[in-house]
Amino acid sequence: MLSEKVAGLINDQVNKELYSAYLYLDFADYYAEAGLDGFAHWYEVQAQEERDHALMMRRYLLDNGCRVSLGAIAAPKLTYKGHGDALAEGLKHERYVTSLISAIYAAAFEEKDYKTMQFLDWFVKEQGEEEKTADELVKKFELFGGDAKGLYMLNQELAARVYTPSATGPAM
Ligand code: FEO
Repeated sequence: MLSEKVAGLINDQVNKELYSAYLYLDFADYYAEAGLDGFAHWYEVQAQEERDHALMMRRYLLDNGCRVSLGAIAAPKLTYKGHGDALAEGLKHERYVTSLISAIYAAAFEEKDYKTMQFLDWFVKEQGEEEKTADELVKKFELFGGDAKGLYMLNQELAARVYTPSATGPAM
């Protein structure tokens, strides 16, 4: 049985994960418009992963007899002045999401809710990986993005990303 507090935080996180998907679609739209289809594709895949995260949390609530309450998803309000802006925002956003997951983990720990802690372990690991990837993207862009040939190569590299459903995570 989940406490009202823990269930509420996970319910909020469903919304945050869907917002993440929305944000990354906005990034993808920006890059598509700029003609950087590889960057756009990379963020489309990222948006799919974020949706998966939301569905995993939703499923966890349902499997534990909790009611899911879906709230409105905020519209991304970013303005992009250069091709590196979304990458930097992505890193900032992933750090923020890590702080949210940590807060849910802390609440579960406080209530000796070991089941939820175990459920969240996957997300803790995933956030570590996502922060690392976002940081690498920022660095690669800083190194190669200022040069047309480098940008072309980076775009090719990002175009190769393959979506794999988060099957290794908690049951969906
Ligand atoms: Fe689901 Fe990237 O946080």
